[in-house]
Amino acid sequence: MSKRLYIQDVATRDGFQIESAFVPTEDKIALIDQLSLTGLAKIEVTSFTSPKAIPNLRDAEEVMRGIRRVEGVEYTVLVPNVKGCERALACEVDEINLVMSASDTHGLANLRMTPEQSLEQFKAIIEVTRGTDVFVNASLSTTFGCPFEGEVPEARVYELVQKLLDIGVQGVTLCDTTGMADPAQVERICNEARRRWPQSVFTAHFHNTRGMGLANALAALNAGIDRFDASLGGLGGCPYAPGASGNICTEDLVHMFQRMGLETGVDLDQLLDAAARLPELVGHDVPSAILKAGKADRRYPKPKWMEAP
Ligand code: COA
Ligand code: ZN
Repeated sequence: MSKRLYIQDVATRDGFQIESAFVPTEDKIALIDQLSLTGLAKIEVTSFTSPKAIPNLRDAEEVMRGIRRVEGVEYTVLVPNVKGCERALACEVDEINLVMSASDTHGLANLRMTPEQSLEQFKAIIEVTRGTDVFVNASLSTTFGCPFEGEVPEARVYELVQKLLDIGVQGVTLCDTTGMADPAQVERICNEARRRWPQSVFTAHFHNTRGMGLANALAALNAGIDRFDASLGGLGGCPYAPGASGNICTEDLVHMFQRMGLETGVDLDQLLDAAARLPELVGHDVPSAILKAGKADRRYPKPKWMEAP
């Protein structure tokens, strides 16, 4: 069975938001322009959040307006509230990705809003987007666990997904904000979401904080999920979720899917070229496995002593 998967890179949003240093605007634009040519389905360019909350993305308008958009690539941005939505619409984004938390404590820490307060903002946002053709997605942080509260009851997750769809959100991303998810849980929740809402568009968003990232992606795939957020180089993390670290790495994910014979639409060599720029851009090594190890078809010369004299 060959199946088309949609790979959505979030490095310039989820990745750059948590870096200790601001990545210069022109470098962000150059990286996104390079990523646009790799065959990714979607790029999460930036976030329209408070510059006090996320100073690294304070150049959101400049970045969104500065990139060269490529036909066939969707450009999305993270939005927490009505003000962010208005800023995003002014930049003519293809999609707004609303962000809320499934847990009260992370919601308050990250957004100063409980889930219910976020939903009120989102109702107003749906009104603001009416009459436009912008796609409205919502990312549900801490779906698989909260770093403050621990387990988030699955019934609560489904209740919130239902509320999001009821107010008119078109797609939902199930986010494992701090790598608490395990593959059995992922398969169960993704199966249940697809059973309850077969017509809705679901995306899986995993962080590799506890080394379960690619296993979780595989579990989501087995449950029929075909859209994956991932971050070039494996950068990423929420600055308001203690212990957060990088997303699953885009090139590692694409490499795995390609080895399995699955169609991602992504040119892995071009993706690796883009990833190779990251250490210099962010000033440190990145978690990417394939950038270091090379693809599985990499071959080394035999030891000298085996060669015929
Ligand atoms: N874009 C730009 N500025 C915004 C904004 C937005 N979307 N939303 C609010 N602001 C500004 C307000 O204008 C106000 O500015 P002022 O102090 O100059 O008057 C200030 O931020 C506070 O506004 P308020 O509505 O009271 O927000 P808050 O302090 O309750 O913070 C959020 C709420 C959602 C704006 C803020 O917590 C946030 O941006 N969080 C994003 C967190 C995030 O992205 N985490 C990582 C992704 S998971
Ligand atoms: Zn994330």
